[in-house]
Amino acid sequence: MEKIVVWYIRMSLVYFFVGALLGLSMIAHPDSIFYYRNVHVHFNLLGWMSMMIYGVGYHVLPKFSGRLIYSPVLMKVQFWFANLGLIGMAVGWTMIGRDIAAEGARSLLLVSAVIVLAGIGMFAFNIGKTVTPVKRPAG
Ligand code: HEM
Ligand code: HEM
Repeated sequence: MEKIVVWYIRMSLVYFFVGALLGLSMIAHPDSIFYYRNVHVHFNLLGWMSMMIYGVGYHVLPKFSGRLIYSPVLMKVQFWFANLGLIGMAVGWTMIGRDIAAEGARSLLLVSAVIVLAGIGMFAFNIGKTVTPVKRPAG
């Protein structure tokens, strides 16, 4: 398995643990639901679920298609976009929820969300290019 794929899977497991921990802490301290719910939801859905799908997808989809990944560079760049963007969103949401530097926190959230979205676009493009059959000349 490629090193970067292992890192997608490792980070996915980290988000799963931290996301579940936040779930538990929301049960223990219901007041914290207000500022942790969005972080919990996105650590679980963008961190645990999406990150695992990125890793497993990059590993198996080229094999299923009998190809190499279209862009190994984009696969690595996307890893940083997905992680830095998600962590930025988590910090932004926590700051907004706790009313810390609200203006700055909103900008951080916005920029981080754009970074996450760009990462999603990179994944869609790279996997799309990898699995699309090459047209062969007839005959
Ligand atoms: C130990 C594991 C988990 C615990 C203790 C936990 C706990 C919680 C709590 C306390 C809430 C807030 C509920 C409220 O607003 O009253 C919540 C919301 C939520 N959790 Fe979890 N959770 C866990 C794992 C997960 C996982 C693995 C996922 C997804 C893969 C997930 C997805 C969600 C979603 C989408 C919401 C928002 C629901 C809504 O707003 O209607 N949770 N969770
Ligand atoms: C660029 C990526 C994303 C951004 C910027 C984003 C942003 C947001 C925002 C602003 C909210 C509303 C928060 C609020 O009510 O205060 C939200 C809610 C939610 N998002 Fe996302 N999201 C993203 C990706 C995703 C993905 C990929 C999933 C699922 C796979 C997801 C699942 C959810 C769920 C379940 C809620 C409802 C949570 C709740 O009710 O507490 N999001 N998201």
